[in-house]
Amino acid sequence: MASHDHFYVTTPIYYVNGAPHIGTAYTTVLADVLARYHRLGGVPTHFLTGTDEHGQKVYEAATEAGITPQEHCDRMVVRFKEAWKGLEISNDDFIRTTEKRHTDVVQEILQDLFDRDEIYCGEYEGWYDVSNERFYTEKELVDGKSPDGKPVEKIREKNYFFRMSRYQEWLVDHIESNPGFIQPEYRKNETLGFLRQPLGDLCISRPKSRLPWGIELPFDRDFVCYVWFDALVNYISGVGYRRDDATFAKWWPCSVHLIGKDILTTHTVYWPTMLKAMGVEMPRSFFAHGWWLTEGEKMSKSTGNVSNPLDMIDRYGLDSLRYYLMSEMTLGQDASFTEDGFVLRYNADLANDLGNLTSRALKMIGRSFDGKIPAPGPDGEHEATLRQAVMKAVTAMPDHVTGMTLDRGLLQVIDAVRAANRYFDATAPWKLAKAGETEALGTVIYATAETLRIVSGLLYPVMPGKMTELRTMLGLRGDELVPRLDRLGQWGVLEAGRPVGDIDTLFPRIDRKALAAAAAETTKVDGVPRAQGGGGKDGGKDAPAKPEGVALIDVDTFFRTKLRVAKVIAAEPVPKADRLLLLQIDLGGETRQIVAGIAQFYSAEEMVGKSVVVVANLKPAKIRGVESNGMLLAAKDGKTLRVVTVDGEVPAGASVG
Ligand code: MSP
Repeated sequence: MASHDHFYVTTPIYYVNGAPHIGTAYTTVLADVLARYHRLGGVPTHFLTGTDEHGQKVYEAATEAGITPQEHCDRMVVRFKEAWKGLEISNDDFIRTTEKRHTDVVQEILQDLFDRDEIYCGEYEGWYDVSNERFYTEKELVDGKSPDGKPVEKIREKNYFFRMSRYQEWLVDHIESNPGFIQPEYRKNETLGFLRQPLGDLCISRPKSRLPWGIELPFDRDFVCYVWFDALVNYISGVGYRRDDATFAKWWPCSVHLIGKDILTTHTVYWPTMLKAMGVEMPRSFFAHGWWLTEGEKMSKSTGNVSNPLDMIDRYGLDSLRYYLMSEMTLGQDASFTEDGFVLRYNADLANDLGNLTSRALKMIGRSFDGKIPAPGPDGEHEATLRQAVMKAVTAMPDHVTGMTLDRGLLQVIDAVRAANRYFDATAPWKLAKAGETEALGTVIYATAETLRIVSGLLYPVMPGKMTELRTMLGLRGDELVPRLDRLGQWGVLEAGRPVGDIDTLFPRIDRKALAAAAAETTKVDGVPRAQGGGGKDGGKDAPAKPEGVALIDVDTFFRTKLRVAKVIAAEPVPKADRLLLLQIDLGGETRQIVAGIAQFYSAEEMVGKSVVVVANLKPAKIRGVESNGMLLAAKDGKTLRVVTVDGEVPAGASVG
């Protein structure tokens, strides 16, 4: 699927001292899904992850535990390896920065840069933040603390510096002339904004007297290498740089370095300038994704609002957790992790749509065709519509993968499943069975089975276990269980007469009542449960007593709606639709089009330049055949309609809430 001859994807190497959590699990699952999609297309793929094992915090934790830092790392790394195994991560390699294959290469790079005067000895005076292992200048301090509020101490010492400032102009030029280098666009703008200030040289050493745990500078044994300068090198030491030219040539340049938005500068400024100084080709791209939030706060170990991914697998199921992570987060933006959100998505997409279609089709194969795939009759109009929806998802997926809009690709697959459920309803195969119309029945069941085969292939990288189950139920065996992109694009692969497998419920519906039951136990007052809201088909909604007629929602539900400020950059009427305007809006670097039913109240010219408020995470919809990616907010009362705007200057993309 990559537009190049190989696909090499990396995750950040995680601090070994921390525990794996939903944030680190997310980046790793994302890399895994991208790698699996590329393998499906037959593209030679390499997926590297690992751990960052040097630095002050590791040293301190080891000292506290009374063991050597290396022993400490050896103990801690196991948790990452186990978590990734539990999440079925298909990484080809796992690199640790304490491995000789890495430390030797870092030392050679340091020596080479020193010999070529890319690294020089100087004196450093600055404010040092121990927790972030970073120096700040006087100007950068906020109320005598680091910008994120950590205590700092003044330090003056001899140090070594990388001549990063040399490459400032070159970097700006490289970013500007390679549009996909930093993605999404608004992160690219963030880096370019950072580069508008003069870029200093980078202090790449730490005196051993203060920090003995790191890679020694080969030209001055009193110093160790700054952790970031060491850690970034993993991306090349992990694929044979200076050790194995053939391997290095095979995988480098990296196709995409996946990172969270928190480590944008180190990756998009330090790393390219380091590579430039080394004379190594630039990676093709960086992609910075957003954060998982809970109650509006970043999920992280230090805030204590995260659970171990392995516990979450126990609670939610491996594949459904992977699906939720991939479909709930619009790549690049932040997303909220909530149990309600999980259950809603699971029940809607997996239990109702996909699970239901599977059991409907397979039960009929068992009942009417003796457990064998039936022969289809000629296709009619209904089949043509279904095939169109399915093939649309197949054709779009490669672009969604390379374009990093995976969540939208998944949405399209689920749309195809919905189309198949509609097809099932419209053709009513149970009636055909009753009427003994075997050929027509065979056509419907065959088309549904083919849809399921193709859909299971498209979802396989996200849910390898569940989709293998589904493919087994469809009668696929051995090598056929692993989908291939070329076969996904073909209709009619399942041959008539093929016996299907045993049927099992693929995605049992989650009863929110049952999930909440455990929680309710703890909220009983004097053994009496709190008032419950009305139950119902949806599994019942647990809610406190509420005033009649007012649907109360909790704050998490509200925050699932992402409201953002957008600037209208262009507007035009939609032909043959006198109520609609087509707007091009800027969401802070990202341009989108939305269709708004405001033409009777505003002219196109009036709208241009307005800062409006839009719902940014609405599923794309076609309105009068025109795609709309969001919804404009407006106040309406009788014959008056006014769009909602903000009071004063706020940059496009700002969140509203
Ligand atoms: N060791 C450095 C990276 C060096 S790479 C050469 C580091 N490690 S980390 O353990 O702190 O991991 C940071 C990464 O974890 C983020 O960039 C992101 O990929 C992921 N996440 C951590 N918390 C997150 C969320 N709450 N949400 C999403 N991902 C976040 O930085």
